[in-house]
Amino acid sequence: MREIIANSFVEIFSQEPLLAFAPGRINLIGEHTDYQEGFVFPAAVAQGIHFAIQKNNSKSARIHSLDFNEDFVFDVKSFSPKKGHWANYIMGMVSQFKQAGYEVAGFDMVFGGNIPVGSGLSSSAALSVGVGTAISGLFDFNIPKKSLALYAQKSEQLFEGLNCGIMDPYASAFGKADHALLLDCRSNSHEEVPISLGPYCLLLVNTKVKHKLADSAYNKRRSACEESVEILSHTFPDIKTLRDISETDLPKVKSILSIELFSKAKHVILEDVRVHQAGESLRRGELVKFGKLMKASHESLSKDYEVSCKELDFLAEESWKKSYVLGSRMMGGGFGGCTINLLENEYIPEFKESIAKSYFDAFNIEPEFIEVKPSDGARIVK
Ligand code: GLA
Repeated sequence: MREIIANSFVEIFSQEPLLAFAPGRINLIGEHTDYQEGFVFPAAVAQGIHFAIQKNNSKSARIHSLDFNEDFVFDVKSFSPKKGHWANYIMGMVSQFKQAGYEVAGFDMVFGGNIPVGSGLSSSAALSVGVGTAISGLFDFNIPKKSLALYAQKSEQLFEGLNCGIMDPYASAFGKADHALLLDCRSNSHEEVPISLGPYCLLLVNTKVKHKLADSAYNKRRSACEESVEILSHTFPDIKTLRDISETDLPKVKSILSIELFSKAKHVILEDVRVHQAGESLRRGELVKFGKLMKASHESLSKDYEVSCKELDFLAEESWKKSYVLGSRMMGGGFGGCTINLLENEYIPEFKESIAKSYFDAFNIEPEFIEVKPSDGARIVK
C-alpha cells in the first residue's frame, strides 16, 4: 500500500515525497466516557492510512485521494469547509495549525488506506492525525503527539460538527504495538498496558450499517451528560464532569435526576469503573473476567445509554452464546459499525461461519470480519 501511494505521488507530482502513516483504532472498553473526562482503553491497529507529501512552492494544497479517485485543491491561506467532503479533515487540520501559529505553505499530497469506512475503526481520526503528522514532518514543526490529537479533535468538531472526544485521535497518535492505552481523558495522559491474549484474539464483526441518526444522537447524549452535571452540581458542588461522581453516590444521583438522565449518567459512571477493572484484569491475564466486563459494557450501552441498534445487539447476543467467546460488545459511538469480540483462535473459522449465517438470515446482510492487533501509532515513515 505504501509503495502504491509513493508511486502514484511520483507519477502525479513528479517529485519524491515524504511518507507518513496513521492507524485506525479499536477500543477494548470505555465507551462514551471520553467527553466526560473519564477513562477509555483503546489501541491503534495495523490498518490505517498512508500519506505521501511534498512542498510545492505555491499557495495551494493539491490533494489526491486514491481511494475515492478524486482531487481537491484549496488555497492554504483561505478556505472553508465543504459539508460532508473528505477534504474537510485536511482543511480542518491546516486550520488548527494556523491557529496555533504554524505557517503551512503549499503542499502536494496523495493518500489512501485500508480502513473499512464506516466500520467504526475511526478512519477520520487516522486521516486527521496522519495529515497532522505528515505536515508537521514536512515543515519541521515537530508538533507533539498530544497537540496533534487535540487539533484533530477540534478539527472534527469544527469542520464536521461532531462533538467528539479525544479517544480516537489520541489512540491513532500514541498507539503502541502489543499494548492498549489506558487513557485518562482529563489529564490526557495514558498508561501502556501490555496485551497478551495467549490462545485468544480480538476479532471485529462489522454490521455494515450506519444508522442516520448517529451523529445527532451522539451530540444529544453528550448534552444529556452536561445537563446532568449542571443539575448535580447543586448537590455535589465540586464536580466538573460525571467522572467526579463515584459508584457509591449513585443512590443519591438517582434521587436527583429524571429517569431518563439517570440511566445515561449511570452508564458513564459505571463504565469508568469497568475500565479500571478491565485494566486490572488484563494486567493479571484474567481474560474471563475481562470478557464479562465487555458484556456488561454492551448491556449498559444498549439498555441505559441507548446507543446500540438491533444489528449490534444481535451480533453481541449471538456471540455471548458461544462457549469459546469470552466477551463481545459494540465498539465506538454506536448505531452501527462493529462489535469487538474476544475469542479462542482455533474457533475463528467456526465463529465466522456461524455468525455470517445467522446475521444474514436475520438482516440479509453479509457481515465483514476484521482481524485486529494492537499496533504502533502515527509516524513519519521515510
Ligand atoms: C466516537 C467518538 C469518541 C468516543 C466514542 C464513544 O468514536 O469519536 O470520541 O466518544 O465515539 O466512546
